[in-house]
Amino acid sequence: MLFSNELSVIQQKMAASSAGIERRLEILKNLNFVKGQTILDIGCGGGHLLPDLALAVGKEGKILGLDPSEAQIEAAMTRCNKINNIELLRLPANKTNLQANSVDIVTSTQTLEYIKNVDSALEEIARVIKNKSQFVNVSILWDHFKFHGPENHLNELIHETFKDHCFHQMLPMELNMRLSRQGFENISSRGLPFLVTKRHENSPAKYSEEVLALFALKQGIPEDKVSDWRLQLSKAEEDGRFGFTSYPVITKANLK
Ligand SMILES: C[S@@+](CC[C@H](N)C(=O)[O-])C[C@H]1O[C@@H](n2cnc3c(N)ncnc32)[C@H](O)[C@@H]1O
Repeated sequence: MLFSNELSVIQQKMAASSAGIERRLEILKNLNFVKGQTILDIGCGGGHLLPDLALAVGKEGKILGLDPSEAQIEAAMTRCNKINNIELLRLPANKTNLQANSVDIVTSTQTLEYIKNVDSALEEIARVIKNKSQFVNVSILWDHFKFHGPENHLNELIHETFKDHCFHQMLPMELNMRLSRQGFENISSRGLPFLVTKRHENSPAKYSEEVLALFALKQGIPEDKVSDWRLQLSKAEEDGRFGFTSYPVITKANLK
């Protein structure tokens, strides 16, 4: 999926929602920071994680935010322009142009599943990260990314169409094996599932609904079907029977 202008704006609202905050907190809790470290965030998007990483490593440290999307890198520049030790790289994960063994920590959130040749991205991470250093990833089990409106045939139609939005629907299920092949050890995963029952401004459901609707229209689903789907979700919320579930997974590993 291309994170160009329209999608980039919705994605950044999603990153600012409760779901985005929770996964960033989880990543920060799972890292052992030392002042002066260099940290690479792969698929940094609008740069929401970068300021906290910069605080954690102090002025002597360095944060690299990498993303191939022009719109996302521009948003990250705006967010981080007052922080001197953040550098943004408009590059893909499998070609970072960084020196081998030059990074102390690599983080990535909801990005690896969008990369067709995910092994080439993992190989590049293993190349740039120092021995014994930490890699922390959050990816979503997309089979569990579901809207629970009352009309199941409409939910299913939209969910089915959305399957095409990324290359690896269930990446956390196979990430441990893929990391181990690249020389990582101490690999562990933990689910961070959630349910939301509201579609307000701080709810990931609001922005997920916008993304799915946009994607369905682009995939040729008729406008009236997409509007019907959104109307039934709105009615379900009014009736107190709306639900949206997602199942992110945090995976930690160290290079040997
Ligand atoms: C869902 S966004 C997540 C952004 C950010 N990590 C966050 O949690 O808010 C996915 C990001 O992956 C980026 N992306 C897509 N393909 C990529 C690739 N080959 N290498 C690095 N990033 C990529 C997109 O441009 C987009 O910004």
